Amino acid sequence: MGQQPDGRAPDTIRLLIVDDMAETAQNVQKLLHFERDIRVVGIASSGRDAIQKADQLRPDVILMDINLRDMDGVEVAEIIGRQISTCIVMMSVQSEPEYFSQAMSVGARGYLVKPFTSEKLVRTIRRAVENFPLAPPPTTGGYDRGGGTNGLRKIIAVYSPKGGAGTSVLAANMAIALQQTTQKSVVLVDANLQNGDAHVLLNVNTSASIDDLREAGVGAIDQDVIDGTVIKHGESEIGLLRAPLTPESAELFTSDATKAILVELRDHFDYVVVDTGSSFSEATLSVLEVADLIVTVTTLEVTTIHRVSQFFQLAERVGISLSKVRLVCNRVEQYYGIRPNQVESQLRRRFFAQIPEDEKLVVASINRGVPFIVSQKAAPISRAVHTLAGRIAEVLAPQSDPTPSRRWPAFLGNNNS
Ligand SMILES: Nc1ncnc2c1ncn2[C@@H]1O[C@H](COP(=O)(O)OP(=O)(O)OP(=O)(O)O)[C@@H](O)[C@H]1O
Ligand SMILES: [Mg+2]
Repeated sequence: MGQQPDGRAPDTIRLLIVDDMAETAQNVQKLLHFERDIRVVGIASSGRDAIQKADQLRPDVILMDINLRDMDGVEVAEIIGRQISTCIVMMSVQSEPEYFSQAMSVGARGYLVKPFTSEKLVRTIRRAVENFPLAPPPTTGGYDRGGGTNGLRKIIAVYSPKGGAGTSVLAANMAIALQQTTQKSVVLVDANLQNGDAHVLLNVNTSASIDDLREAGVGAIDQDVIDGTVIKHGESEIGLLRAPLTPESAELFTSDATKAILVELRDHFDYVVVDTGSSFSEATLSVLEVADLIVTVTTLEVTTIHRVSQFFQLAERVGISLSKVRLVCNRVEQYYGIRPNQVESQLRRRFFAQIPEDEKLVVASINRGVPFIVSQKAAPISRAVHTLAGRIAEVLAPQSDPTPSRRWPAFLGNNNS
């Protein structure tokens, strides 16, 4: 990788400082003056300012004071963590463990007690981004497919660590529901590079695929290339970028190539919904890293629950923030011997949405190539998918209510917003 579009070296850490004391922000800037790999890209003086600037600037690290005048820094961190992929380091004059664990519960990757030395500051920032890929800076320009504004442009990965959990069915139907609910532009990207079948679910017959974007190369993905590869779905308003035509192509998708394709698409659509393969491949990991939200699918099967639990542990180890994970239970059915609330307790997370089992309707809709969200709008499963889409839109909305719900104890995660 060479220089990034904003002229920075690829390994420069882009930092946003959030402190309502202008003097403190300036002092931090001074302490970092000689660090060539850390660049202050912005200063925010309030919680609301921080939420807005984080979305605009997409910093790699946000250094955030825990006590802001307008909002609680922990809440601000929680909101930002749901909107973008970034590393948050909290600053506080308090060293109490309670503050520390509050910060960590919302995914903070570092904690600095004021006053601190420049060595301590630099070490904490560098450690926060360890194993965390530095995102490309926000790109500007490019064409807009009607409404790619308002700070939207989000990547939503739909993922299950267990194959067959219903990832593709949910991704396709949810993408359509998201478009219908928000009237924004939506592209469904089939990033199940070896076994993608989204084009079958949507009955889209095309030989254009995500492989064409990889071959075009990052700088060359423009409106014409996108128009030639993203195919409009006949029965809805979404676009589809299908998986490669041959499974061998999957190996050619490096982490950089996969991320670059998604980031380019994000510039052209309000929502990029990614159907992700269950294997923990380099490409899948890249999708999860770059995603603003990860809809993680479980079912009521013990094997799937076990895999999801393992995925949560692994995600933390590889630096995927669990604050952007939302857990969805698919195929909910009372006769399966495990109840949804038991799974919630076991996984220490509340379900963001529950999708009922409806084998007849789902299989028939797959066989007809018409998503049930189009053909059976009033069915309980369609209503549940609409609820899921609505919640996703709400969580990702830039002006979402800055006061997150705190009904659940921190250990259960923060996914009931
Ligand atoms: N809510 C549901 N009710 C009934 N059946 C469902 C439901 N969701 C999914 N299925 C069934 O589960 C099967 C697998 O779904 P799907 O192909 O979406 O899974 P996947 O996680 O994408 O699998 P893969 O790992 O192969 O990509 C489908 O054939 C469908 O019939
Ligand atoms: Mg699938």
